[in-house]
Amino acid sequence: MNENQRLEGQQVQTENSSDKKSSKDYSKYFETVYTAPSLKDAKKRGKEEVKYHKDFDIPEEFLGMGEGRKFYIRTYGCQMNEHDTEVMAGIFLGLGYEPTDSVEDANVILLNTCAIRENAENKVFGELGHLKHLKREKPDLLLGVCGCMSQEESVVNKILKTYNQVDMIFGTHNIHRLPNILQEAYMSKEMVVEVWSKEGDVIENLPKVRRGNIKAWVNIMYGCDKFCTYCIVPYTRGKERSRRPEDIIQEVRQLAAHGYQEITLLGQNVNAYGKDFTDFEYGLGDLMDEMRKIDIPRVRFTTSHPRDFDDHLIEVLAKGGNLMDHIHLPVQSGSTDVLKIMARKYTREQYLELVRKIKAAIPNVTLTTDIIVGYPNETDEQFEETLSLVREVGYESAYTFIYSPREGTPAAKMQDNVPMEVKKERLQRLNALVNEQSAQSMKKYQDQIVEVLVEGESKNNPDVLAGYTSKMKLVNFVGPKSAIGKIVKVKITNAKTWSLNGEMVEENEPVEVK
Ligand code: 5AD
Ligand code: SF4
Repeated sequence: MNENQRLEGQQVQTENSSDKKSSKDYSKYFETVYTAPSLKDAKKRGKEEVKYHKDFDIPEEFLGMGEGRKFYIRTYGCQMNEHDTEVMAGIFLGLGYEPTDSVEDANVILLNTCAIRENAENKVFGELGHLKHLKREKPDLLLGVCGCMSQEESVVNKILKTYNQVDMIFGTHNIHRLPNILQEAYMSKEMVVEVWSKEGDVIENLPKVRRGNIKAWVNIMYGCDKFCTYCIVPYTRGKERSRRPEDIIQEVRQLAAHGYQEITLLGQNVNAYGKDFTDFEYGLGDLMDEMRKIDIPRVRFTTSHPRDFDDHLIEVLAKGGNLMDHIHLPVQSGSTDVLKIMARKYTREQYLELVRKIKAAIPNVTLTTDIIVGYPNETDEQFEETLSLVREVGYESAYTFIYSPREGTPAAKMQDNVPMEVKKERLQRLNALVNEQSAQSMKKYQDQIVEVLVEGESKNNPDVLAGYTSKMKLVNFVGPKSAIGKIVKVKITNAKTWSLNGEMVEENEPVEVK
């Protein structure tokens, strides 16, 4: 079988020619799954209604598959990926696998990948290279690639051609098929590729192993229909599909009952939540209003798109309570012309008007953002407009990026006359400004008392505890270990650029939210 046959077939018959995994006794005639991604198909937005499956069970025939075996998942990228990893870990445990922190110890290694920028992808290819020796030493090891990179046909082709240490590739729409994919990989001599270009249904009650028992992520929707011209996400994550509010509310109530202190509602574009419901009108504002009634101290959401950020949501957030006074509101550029080319569907003025409304309703609000510099043909003047917008809004921090062309997106086809040195210089100037604003915002906390949700020991010093304020400021402080998992009051003794140092003033029970 040659490469082309592999690429064309949906289901390709395995041949005996490969000596891959020859140490195992596999059925000669086992059919290898081969379902390749297509960015063209992924772009389509069908009218089909989303189906909701309320019950997920691991198929009986796979139970016990993992007995005596260990799994290791390395996660790249955003919170959505982190949360997918929690689901896959839940499935692994359901199959009888044990978790391990060491790749050397693992019988299955998964790389849950990110496609947002080229350097994220390069990290994964580098890691695949590092892991090759493990495959040689341990032929029974299964190595898998999943997540957003798997949804790109160029990546799948590259792995097929160059990284034959990989045993399985699956995408973002079929992680619930992990048991079947593992089974295929154990049985097959060929690389198992199962990537769906069309998004699947919404599946409730997937098992999850959450990282820690203090903060939790809760998916409220999947996919993105915005198609910003630089962004690969609408292709890798499919069309917008919202979970039903009753399922989300039930999940959050259960987390609250288990003692979680903070939840973050997750989606690629959470402000579009509910727009796909055909039977009733319901939006993020309505959902956040429900969150206020749940006895959990802190509720956040990410990520917002300014275009869909409506007045009702602002009104609800202004009620405060357990709804946090920090909003991450990606702007991407301060220039209306660049925003237009990015297809962000708002102008600089409209964004500033939204900021004005938010600040008027929530006077103490903290705003943070995402910014891309060096968009194709971005002029010095347009970049200056970004700097002036950063000042005008007064962001307290920002994720800043140099534009990275993503194959298959409209921006990747644009001619670009901005040299890389200029892009780097712009990034440095932007970062200097963001650092300055962050340091300014931190100074205000000197000698103040803040409430901190304590997450554990500081990474650098086990004698120091670390946690976050409602505005997501990192606080390192001296206090008893019994404070971990609680919201405590801390007096700030030293305000740094990106974090605060302090001393605990009193130990509280978790703050009660009415
Ligand atoms: N190049 C650079 N940054 C990007 N982002 C998304 N796509 C690209 C790209 N092609 C940034 C945006 C987005 C954040 C998650 O990543 O700022 O908000
Ligand atoms: Fe990408 Fe966000 Fe734009 Fe969607 S809204 S296309 S995820 S940048």
